[in-house]
Amino acid sequence: MERRNFLKVLSATGAVIAINPSTIGQTLMAKDGALYKRYAKVQLVDGSGAPLKADALKTGENYVFNYPYAGTSCLLVNLPMPTAKDVELTDEFGNEYVWKGGVGSKGTIVAYSGICPHQLTHINKNDSFITFRNPGERFAGDIVCDGHTSVYDAERGCRVKEGKAPQPLAAIVLEVGSDNTLWAVGVLGKDKFHEFFGSFRRELKEQFGSKRKAKAKVAERAETVLLSDYTRDIVKL
Ligand code: FES
Repeated sequence: MERRNFLKVLSATGAVIAINPSTIGQTLMAKDGALYKRYAKVQLVDGSGAPLKADALKTGENYVFNYPYAGTSCLLVNLPMPTAKDVELTDEFGNEYVWKGGVGSKGTIVAYSGICPHQLTHINKNDSFITFRNPGERFAGDIVCDGHTSVYDAERGCRVKEGKAPQPLAAIVLEVGSDNTLWAVGVLGKDKFHEFFGSFRRELKEQFGSKRKAKAKVAERAETVLLSDYTRDIVKL
């Protein structure tokens, strides 16, 4: 087997391992594995604990789940349109990676970290300045951080279309089971978790009890709710 047929990925323990892409189905991968980090495979469930079904997601609705840490919120959207495939992206340091596209029967379901790489505006329980915009809204079809109006292309791996963001939102890697269940399995792209946990100690204590609890890795299940149920104030400028 040629070397390029294997991908180097970070295991949950941080060790670099090589795996054959054929063993991971439709998981979204980095071009050379450098920007993919695998975390626990976590099932998305609704507020009652029932498995979330991919085909039951409302189109254009903003959903939130926390992954890979208890205190890091992610945006889940069933887009109105199928996404592009195999989108080549670049992080703020020039590292290239490939976002494979949306999942689900129509290839429309995407998830991204809710932490903006510009100045760490993030989805939290008090407010959210980050939302997917539907037809009829300003920046329709995009995800916008209204911290300073960075516009991300939701159909193309959240590449930056406008604004000061130095790189795409990190993508949450999703899988859909044969029973239509939804799973998060890793993070693709340069995430901002380290900077986030270093910057919001007081908020994390207020919203999760302590920074330590906010940094706990999510295991097994992640409750997924409407953004409007998760946050008190959705801000769109
Ligand atoms: S923090 Fe998101 S655009 Fe500045």
